[in-house]
Formats: sequence, C-alpha cells, structure tokens
Amino acid sequence: MSNLPTKNQKLIEWVEQITQLCTPDAVHWCDGSQEEYDALCQKMVESGTFIKLNPEKRPGCYLSRSNPGDVARVEDRTFICTTKKEDAGPTNNWMDPQEMKAILKAHFKGAMRGRTLYVIPFSMGPLGSHIAQIGVEITDSPYVVANMRIMTRMGQKVLDVLGEDGYFVPCLHSVGAPLEPGQKDVAWPCDKDNKYIVHFPEENTIVSYGSGYGGNALLGKKCLALRIATNMARREGWLAEHMLILGAESPEGEKTYVAAAFPSACGKTNFAMLIPPESFKGWKIWTVGDDIAWIKPGKDGRFYAINPEAGFFGVAPGTSEKSNYNAMASVRSNTIFTNVALTDDGDVWWEGMTKEAPAHLIDWQGNDWTPGCGRPAAHPNSRFTAPTQQCPTISPEWDNPNGVPISAFIFGGRMGTTMPLVFQAFNWNHGVYLAATVGSEKTAAAAGKIGEVRRDPFAMLPFCGYNMGDYFAHWLNMGRKHHIPVPIFRVNWFLKKDGQFLWPGFGENMRVLKWIIDRVHGRAHAVESPLGYMPTYADIDWEGLDITREQFNELMTIDKAAWKQEILSQEQLMVLLSERLPQEIRMERQMLLCRINRSENVWTPPVEK
Ligand code: GTP
Ligand code: SPV
Ligand code: MN
Repeated sequence: MSNLPTKNQKLIEWVEQITQLCTPDAVHWCDGSQEEYDALCQKMVESGTFIKLNPEKRPGCYLSRSNPGDVARVEDRTFICTTKKEDAGPTNNWMDPQEMKAILKAHFKGAMRGRTLYVIPFSMGPLGSHIAQIGVEITDSPYVVANMRIMTRMGQKVLDVLGEDGYFVPCLHSVGAPLEPGQKDVAWPCDKDNKYIVHFPEENTIVSYGSGYGGNALLGKKCLALRIATNMARREGWLAEHMLILGAESPEGEKTYVAAAFPSACGKTNFAMLIPPESFKGWKIWTVGDDIAWIKPGKDGRFYAINPEAGFFGVAPGTSEKSNYNAMASVRSNTIFTNVALTDDGDVWWEGMTKEAPAHLIDWQGNDWTPGCGRPAAHPNSRFTAPTQQCPTISPEWDNPNGVPISAFIFGGRMGTTMPLVFQAFNWNHGVYLAATVGSEKTAAAAGKIGEVRRDPFAMLPFCGYNMGDYFAHWLNMGRKHHIPVPIFRVNWFLKKDGQFLWPGFGENMRVLKWIIDRVHGRAHAVESPLGYMPTYADIDWEGLDITREQFNELMTIDKAAWKQEILSQEQLMVLLSERLPQEIRMERQMLLCRINRSENVWTPPVEK
C-alpha cells in the first residue's frame, strides 16, 4: 500500500478497519483539488443527486433535493456516550458506549456495499493554527465530500500537516443505504428508519448513520466543532461556542470584535454580515464567522476567537438582497443549494428572496409549484453552502491563526414577548446567568414541533457535548481566570405585537450594536433596570429611523407579571440540572426575583433629564 497519500499509521489502520467492516466497492482518498470537486459534481449530476444550475445565472452552482424525511438535524437521535450517564447530563440523549458500539457495528456492517468510501482529511481552523483541530471523515456520500470541501480546509494539505504521527478526530459517516448488485441508486440515499448521530467524548470519536443532511452528516461542524470541541475546551481551558464573530469598524478606524450566540435559524448569519443603515456613514462590519467560534485566552488576558469553518451553511428562506445583501453576494457562484426551489430558467428561489414569487417553479420535492398552491416552494430549513471568501465583507482577519480579540459576548433568542430589545449584565456571573436562561421559539433547523418556546442555554442545548451544569461552571471559571472581563449583553430582535415584529431588525440592529460597542469602550450611558443596564431613548442613535419614545418603551418594557412567570419557568431548567447546577446560577435567579418584586408593574427606561 505504498501509493497512499499519508504515512500516518493510525489513519491508515483506521481506514483499513472501516473498509473491512463496511465493504465498499472502492476507496477514494480526497486530495481536495478543484479537478476532484468538479469530477465528483459531474458524477452527481449524472446520478441525479445534483442539478447543475444555469451557468449564466449561477456559475458553478448546483441544486440538491433531499429525501423529504431527511431535512434537518435529528436532536432525538443525537447521543453523547460517556461511561457515566451524569457526564452527558439531563439535556443530552445518553447510551452506554459499549452498548452503542454494538448497535452501530451491526448497522455499519456492509453499509457501504455498492458505494465508494471517501476519506476526507479536514482542518477546523486555519491549517497549523494552535487553535485548529484536524479531523478525518470517512463517508459514502459524495454530497458530503462536496460540502466538506466548501465548509472546511480539506484534502492533501491537511494530510501534510498531520504528518506521520499527528492527531486527528476520526469521524465515521454512512447514509446507511447499501446497494444490492444491479440495484439502481436514488438521488438522496438515507436510512429512513434508523438514524444515529453519536459522540464518544472520552475518546474524541464521532459516528453518524442514516442521514445525509447538514449537521447530521457534515461532521466537522456541530459534531466536531461543538459537541466534541466543548469537551476538549473544558479539559484544556477554552470555549467552543455556537457564535458568530464580527468586527465593527468605526469611521475613525477603531475595530471592535464581538461574538454572539443565537439559537439555530435566529439571525447569526444576518448579524455577522450586517450592513449599517445609511446614517451610519463610515461604519463597516467585517464578517469573521457566522455559526461557530473557538475562543482561547491569550497571554495578555483577553479572549481570542477563530472561526473554525471555511464556508457558510446558511438558512435560505428569508434571505434577500434587502435582508442580507452579503449572503446573496456570497451565493452568486460556486454554491451548493439544498432543498430550495428551481426556476424555469435554471436559477434558485425561496420564500422571501423576492417580494413576488415567480409564476412557476419546481418545488424542493421536484413538483410543479405556482403561487398560492398552499405549499412552500423551498423547505423552511433549505440551505446554501458557500465559501467564506465569497462574502464581500469577509474580514481580512478571518483566517488569522491567532484569532481576533473579543470585546463583548452577546446572547439572544427568538422571543415574541417579555424579553426586551437589549440590556447588559451587571457582571460576568450575571451574564452567565442571562446566557444560561436563554429561551427561544423552536425553528425548522431541527426536526420536531416548531414555534414553542424552550430553554436553549447559550444557544447550545443541542450542541453541548457534556453535562450542561458543568458547562455553566466552566463559563463561571473562565470569567474568574481572566483579568480583563468581557461584558455580556442580552438582545431580542423578535418582539411581536398583533403578529407583527416590533423591531425592524436586520441592518437596523446596528443601532443596538453601536450602543454595545460604546458601552464596551466606556462611552455610552445606561440606567440600572431590574434586568441589567439599559439604554434610555437618548442613548441610541435614531438618525434615519422613525422610532418614537413610545415605540422604544414597548421594546424595552419590563412587565412584572410576565417576568414573574418567566422566572418561574426558569425553575424547570434549574430542577432538571439540579445535580450539577452551580450555586451562583440559583443565587442570580434569587436576586433577579428580588429586583422584580421591588419593581413597578410596568418598568420603562426613565426620561432623560
Ligand atoms: P443556523 O445556521 O441555523 O445556526 O442559524 P442562524 O442563526 O445563522 O440563522 P440566520 O441568520 O440564517 O437566520 C434565519 C432567519 O432569521 C431568517 O428567516 C431571517 O429572515 C431571520 N432573521 C435574521 N435576522 C433577523 C432580524 O433582525 N429580525 C427578524 N425579524 N428576523 C431576522
Ligand atoms: C444549526 O442548526 O444550528 C445549523 C445548521 O447551523 S446544521 O449544520 O444543520 O446544524
Ligand atoms: Mn448553527
């Protein structure tokens, strides 16, 4: 076997062992070249997995339609397998590692029959960065290979960095659809009855079976960069978070980097690519990342963050030239679209892309579609996979191996009521409490009931790879160890009245961000409210936007009765996590309750003198 592209014995043995178990027809080591990518895409066009889009409208772009039963992450089939159940904690599905391995082994036996086994060496983070990690995904899905080439640094260059005895995280994936001799393949193979997304944090390994979609199958993303990385981060003293990273540059050239965590499909991509309103002349937002941040303490006592990814796997519906110009620019070429609609001239369309829908489309399931037919043209969790570098606002620092210094953490959820537009934590511990109690309406990013509010601590409920109580403690510890404290903020773009959003959102979020930045630098005024430090009407720059003091008060109201209810409902999380819940979290809740009890029935920011 002298023609292998690596001398890494561990890797060679692992590939050999999986090949024997899964019995593929062929083995292909990915070199990551353009030729390899083009050939693979061509093969998928021939097999019906890809539709080549009109090269004049979308050069280098493809559309893929998934099986209708394989359209989002499957949280109820996602497992953290630790020796002790308490180490996975009450918010994760758990199974004994040995028991799980036996089940998986049975499923993987012969699972790749009739298919090619691809070996994908990838790096999460800039190649060779001290913050980066190398993974190797074995998959039988060419769709996964093509997506991984966009989402990660992938191919021979990774094997070169890995060397003979470098460390990698083994990530095993199969769509779980072996082919009998002569059996015709389908466009989107998967196992409709058995899906397993499994993590073994004690040995840093990942095994995924039965799904080909997004976070279920692109194992560098949620599986490695969040569920496994949270475990590494806890052991080694850093943070792996579901956060965007952006840099705000003032007209004077001052750059301030912030990291923000919102749950899935709650506006990270939009915020990361924000275009300031016209009145913010000279301000510029630089995109560093839109989904995941790895954050390490530097020697100078500050937190430094990298984006471990190399692409965007963004939500398509709602994305338009108006709502997110930079995302639209990012997907003009070299993009894979999944589960969006196809136009008659070979382009893509989704709900919210244009005001008016085209007169005729082929919907995400391949059926004719006309406006008013009662079905969405694109699946609500349809996505684009686009290279990071195609974003017009990509930060010159985005692949700096040392990361960017973080000046603020921002947490938000999708809350129709109760949670004001913005406020600042009194201190680090209070900020950890605010993040720990994030609530958000469920979105289409995961299978299950949409719209109901659930606690989504740190926007990490589906992604924290260990006991959530220990994770809170880790955050508390990280704050204590740092001599330069990072201010923590809470935001909510999603307040509603009579079914309408109260806040215009999108680019206008710059007004809130500006207040946050000015707070960070000690320039902005705030008042103490029962929830935290808040801006008054005069503290926000309203030039060019018609928001009256009454409207602002609506966005900033603290309703005593609603908050008593909110604090009560937080108790469910506290009870659930009680075994390992840090005492500080309970105390913060107690103090909040005291402040709310002493507050007026309806609190609004005071009128400035
Ligand atoms: P994941 O990739 O799933 O982690 O999600 P994300 O947080 O990156 O979500 P994304 O930015 O793609 O947002 C998804 C949805 O949120 C889209 O439908 C947007 O239209 C909507 N959205 C984003 N920003 C805002 C905002 O400021 N206000 C309102 N009302 N909606 C927003
Ligand atoms: C999310 O659901 O938070 C995503 C998409 O970013 S996926 O990669 O499918 O998890
Ligand atoms: Mn995400």
